[in-house]
Amino acid sequence: MRMRAAVLEEFGQPLVVQELDLAEPRAGEVLVRLVACGVCHTDLYTASGADPSGYAPAVLGHEGAGVVEAVGDDVSSLAPGDHVVTLFSPQCRECVHCQSTKTNICLAIRDEQGKGHLPDGTTRLSRGGEPIRHFMGTSTFAEYTVMPQIALAKISAQAPLDRACLFACGLSTGLGAAMFTAKVEAGSTCVVFGAGMVGLGAVAGCRLQGADRIVCVDLSGERLEMARHQGATDTLVGGQDTVDAILEMTGGFGADYTIEATGNVAVMRQAVESARMGWGLATMCGVAGKGETLDIVPRYLITGRRVAGSSFGGVKGRDQVPQLVQRYLDGELDVDAFLSHRITLDEVNKGFELMEAQDGIRSVIEFG
Ligand SMILES: NC(=O)c1ccc[n+]([C@@H]2O[C@H](COP(=O)([O-])OP(=O)(O)OC[C@H]3O[C@@H](n4cnc5c(N)ncnc54)[C@H](O)[C@@H]3O)[C@@H](O)[C@H]2O)c1
Ligand SMILES: [Zn+2]
Ligand SMILES: [Zn+2]
Repeated sequence: MRMRAAVLEEFGQPLVVQELDLAEPRAGEVLVRLVACGVCHTDLYTASGADPSGYAPAVLGHEGAGVVEAVGDDVSSLAPGDHVVTLFSPQCRECVHCQSTKTNICLAIRDEQGKGHLPDGTTRLSRGGEPIRHFMGTSTFAEYTVMPQIALAKISAQAPLDRACLFACGLSTGLGAAMFTAKVEAGSTCVVFGAGMVGLGAVAGCRLQGADRIVCVDLSGERLEMARHQGATDTLVGGQDTVDAILEMTGGFGADYTIEATGNVAVMRQAVESARMGWGLATMCGVAGKGETLDIVPRYLITGRRVAGSSFGGVKGRDQVPQLVQRYLDGELDVDAFLSHRITLDEVNKGFELMEAQDGIRSVIEFG
């Protein structure tokens, strides 16, 4: 079939929206009609050329939600008409990692996904016979996509897809960091660094876990206000003295849980140093720049602090994204607050500009 998609032709240049060919789903694959897709930092990071593992030409986009149109052979978990959220982090339910409760990082299709291929090593996307690569296994800046069934979460048909798409990356990453990676305990004190999509999700996740005190740190007063709306009990404008301020707020000990969602390695260090002596757990969500490292004075670790990394919030996508969406439908989460701008596929580059200007939390592409 023919469909329109936003193609990364050249790093550092605007995406080019154009018609492409999309082949039928093969065995284990599903054709999805996209209804909505968020614009995330990782798309911009790849488009800019900063990501050393990036490739072009490719169709970007990974925060998608849509409706199943058709399924290939051997697809048992989905049927036409199902509503789905796309998963850049799949869940095969069979590999050694999927069988473990300790990680959400599925091993089934990692290598081919990283090369821009579907699991059989080929692409469904092409232009005049020239293969075009898939991005993050999703390629959702497009009217349609073909994806493996293990990378699609079936969600309630009640969920509006323009909001459900946020669960495909940023929101689940933040919620999950608190709920599944850190496993925040009721009654605890938490500090969240960053009040973008991920940090605000983490604030909401701490609240859902029953945290007593949730401190959010950001540079923007407007974003800190949003953090209060999501459940932060205290807010701080970030700076050199943030660790001291947190120690002061916590009787000199630090917080039970700290969650970093800025991508800044100096802030990651603050997250470690403001975790509580004895048992404080610092969870890192941010993606640092190429070659950057996190400095930790080992004494912080010997005295009982721990550091964890979190990819997609530790969320096992097919099992847990539908559960998170259900909590939204049950009224436990205000997702509307994150949807700042609605744009068309042709305006995808404007989505990048809004993000660079830090105008709003998320721009969502609607396919109409
Ligand atoms: N681990 C994952 O699976 C995953 C998934 C999605 C995004 N991410 C990463 O998470 C990070 C956050 O993503 P986002 O979409 O929320 O980004 P964002 O840019 O919207 O938010 C980052 C926030 O950090 C704040 N900030 C910057 N410097 C600060 C400082 N010194 N102190 C306190 N706050 C500061 C900014 O004001 C901003 O509000 C990014 O690095 C992104 O790449 C990781
Ligand atoms: Zn993302
Ligand atoms: Zn797996």
